[in-house]
Amino acid sequence: MNYISVAIDGPAGAGKSSVSKAAAQSLGFTYIDTGAMYRAAALFAIENGIDIRNDRETLINRLEEVKIVIRYTDKGQRVYLNGRDVSERIREEDVSIGASDVAVIQEVRDKLVALQRKMARSANVIMDGRDICTYVLPNAQVKIFLTASAESRAQRRYEQLKEKGEECDLQKIREDMEYRDKNDSERAVAPLKKADDAVLVDTTELNFEQSVEKIKELIKNVL
Ligand code: CDP
Repeated sequence: MNYISVAIDGPAGAGKSSVSKAAAQSLGFTYIDTGAMYRAAALFAIENGIDIRNDRETLINRLEEVKIVIRYTDKGQRVYLNGRDVSERIREEDVSIGASDVAVIQEVRDKLVALQRKMARSANVIMDGRDICTYVLPNAQVKIFLTASAESRAQRRYEQLKEKGEECDLQKIREDMEYRDKNDSERAVAPLKKADDAVLVDTTELNFEQSVEKIKELIKNVL
């Protein structure tokens, strides 16, 4: 059977995860959050005292020890690192920055991309990330580049964290986001960029429901 793949890329805080998740739920697709995989790899490095920026070799040599499993339960997507549920921990800010740092390493990407492609071969998926349209699923039937102004992306992330009851500072979030945007767009391997054949969706002026509707409409057009 041929499954449908929807690929969504975009910068941090554009709403990719929440919008993709809701659209997938409503259409009966499996949502695959590739960022969670980079986050889990970063957490492995952090917990093992590996200095990601200055000691890539150690992480590359220990990559075989990194076992990432994504499961779908009634609590939604759960991410396991070597058998431990790390779904909440990987959302913290040190892991966000770490994810962007491990994501520049080719060997890390190769390992995670293989897992992502395998998942897309076994279900109808909405997969989001930075290089899904351009590299992971170049033959996806629907390709979307989801973005929003830097200001509204930082504001949304701030509200998301506050809602979870986390201490946060808008200025710091904005700086971290700028760091990641730059890192992700300028890296040599699979940088964040809009694929030529991806539809640009700017959510700066759209609320959550409108963004979900827009994505569903684009998907329904090809079903
Ligand atoms: O949710 P948010 O947009 O903040 O980030 P994420 O999607 O969880 O991704 C975290 C980091 O992983 C990004 O800043 C990228 O550096 C990296 N990433 C990537 O390089 N390629 C992907 N397909 C997904 C994430």
